[in-house]
Amino acid sequence: MLPPNRSPSPEFSPLAIGEDLSPLPAYKAAGTASIDFGGLLGAEPLKLREDLASGCGGQTWPAGMVLGRHMLRYHRDDLRDARILELGAGGGLVGLAVAKACAVDKPLYVTDQVEMHLLMEHNIVLNHLEDKAKAAILNWGEPLPQEIVAFKPDVILAADCVYFEPAFPLLLATLSEILRLCPSATIYFCFKKRRRADMQFMRKAQKMFRVTEVEDEDRPEFSREGLFLYTFRAL
Ligand SMILES: C[S@@+](CC[C@H](N)C(=O)[O-])C[C@H]1O[C@@H](n2cnc3c(N)ncnc32)[C@H](O)[C@@H]1O
Repeated sequence: MLPPNRSPSPEFSPLAIGEDLSPLPAYKAAGTASIDFGGLLGAEPLKLREDLASGCGGQTWPAGMVLGRHMLRYHRDDLRDARILELGAGGGLVGLAVAKACAVDKPLYVTDQVEMHLLMEHNIVLNHLEDKAKAAILNWGEPLPQEIVAFKPDVILAADCVYFEPAFPLLLATLSEILRLCPSATIYFCFKKRRRADMQFMRKAQKMFRVTEVEDEDRPEFSREGLFLYTFRAL
């Protein structure tokens, strides 16, 4: 049994669809994908082991692709001093793309629940990023692990973390705790609206944080698909 404040992931089934909107991504067989974020990684794509045996984060989700592209296009050279942490990283799609191609001095953290830990570590090694990225367990709604408190992250990446309503208060609690720990932090938050409840999440976030829609040349395209990209900062 999970402890009371842990959210299980929803059943990941090819038949599962949002109650009123778009389906979850199609079920993929386990394997290793090569992802170049629309050419932004050039001749050196990210290799990503995908395996749904570890949970729904075991494959790439659309908001991860959008946030990855955004970071590679607009933040290659301005993150040198940043202390970067990815929440709900799954296999590490966004964080590992940043670790691979953005100029960052400190190793960043990709974090998720324990079920995803081996997959995150596998993908770090697969891309030879051992000096640039670390995997850690970070359960939303629980106190931040001591190593994360000591790290004091100031750039947070969160992609497709809004997909399971029982986890919304836990995620909001973790985002608040991070902004309390580092009031100057910026959270890059990308999600795909699938259900009406997803907008409830955003309404709550707008009361708790300073929410700004982010400029991106791909926005007309991704907003047609129900994807949104925001920054959250402390009020
Ligand atoms: C839909 S996946 C997105 C994965 C990746 N960010 C992407 O865009 O491809 C959401 C991730 O959030 C993680 N997650 C769900 N509930 C969580 C919780 N309570 N604490 C930490 N991570 C959680 C899941 O394990 C999963 O990897």
